[in-house]
Amino acid sequence: MDDIFVRELEIDHVDKTTILRFRQKLEGDVNCVVWDGAIVLAKFLEKQCLEDNGFLENRSVIELGSGVGCVGIVAACLGANVLLTDLPQALPLLRQNVEENKTKLKGYVEVEPLNWGSPCKINFTPDIILLAECIYYKEVIGSLVSTLRELATHDTKVILCQELRDSQTQKECWKEFLESVKEYFEVQFVPQSEQSSEYSCPEIQILRLTKK
Ligand SMILES: C[S@@+](CC[C@H](N)C(=O)[O-])C[C@H]1O[C@@H](n2cnc3c(N)ncnc32)[C@H](O)[C@@H]1O
Repeated sequence: MDDIFVRELEIDHVDKTTILRFRQKLEGDVNCVVWDGAIVLAKFLEKQCLEDNGFLENRSVIELGSGVGCVGIVAACLGANVLLTDLPQALPLLRQNVEENKTKLKGYVEVEPLNWGSPCKINFTPDIILLAECIYYKEVIGSLVSTLRELATHDTKVILCQELRDSQTQKECWKEFLESVKEYFEVQFVPQSEQSSEYSCPEIQILRLTKK
């Protein structure tokens, strides 16, 4: 049985609208669907580009924990050159989504495996690091923060988006992440008023991080 279903997302540019299509799986791990935080971050990037056309134009971007690729593919649609990364098992569906949307992307896209905490074999310095919904299990927080430290320079903007869930485990996870990341990065919460009016809510936070 074909367990693929498609999520469409409209992205507005100054002069046109692009409809992107993301293949998702009915059954599978967390990397098989588009998470709400990815939509909120994608729409934040769209808004930034509508306000400043050059915001992503020709920028070097790396996305961590891309899942099906929504955030990074939107960034490429808006003009960035993007490296999408995730665990090896996520890459086949991620590559299908790059293929599905390739005629609609202004920037280049590549896909590579990257397990947080392992050395990052990339040959460029990212202007922007993007991540959505990646803070959800404690075991990996140290590795995720160490990958952010390895990839970011003082000029790199890290933009992350996370839904804050009610469970005790998720609350502790978020607290631990913030405590850890604040040791190495300045952390700024993006007010909801600066986000997409349609695609934002108080439970989903967008943060900007810059290396101390
Ligand atoms: C909740 S999903 C979010 C996916 C996507 N960013 C989105 O918002 O739609 C978390 C993602 O992090 C990836 N991930 C989890 N642990 C990882 C690790 N140790 N190294 C790299 N990626 C990891 C998962 O494979 C998954 O794609």
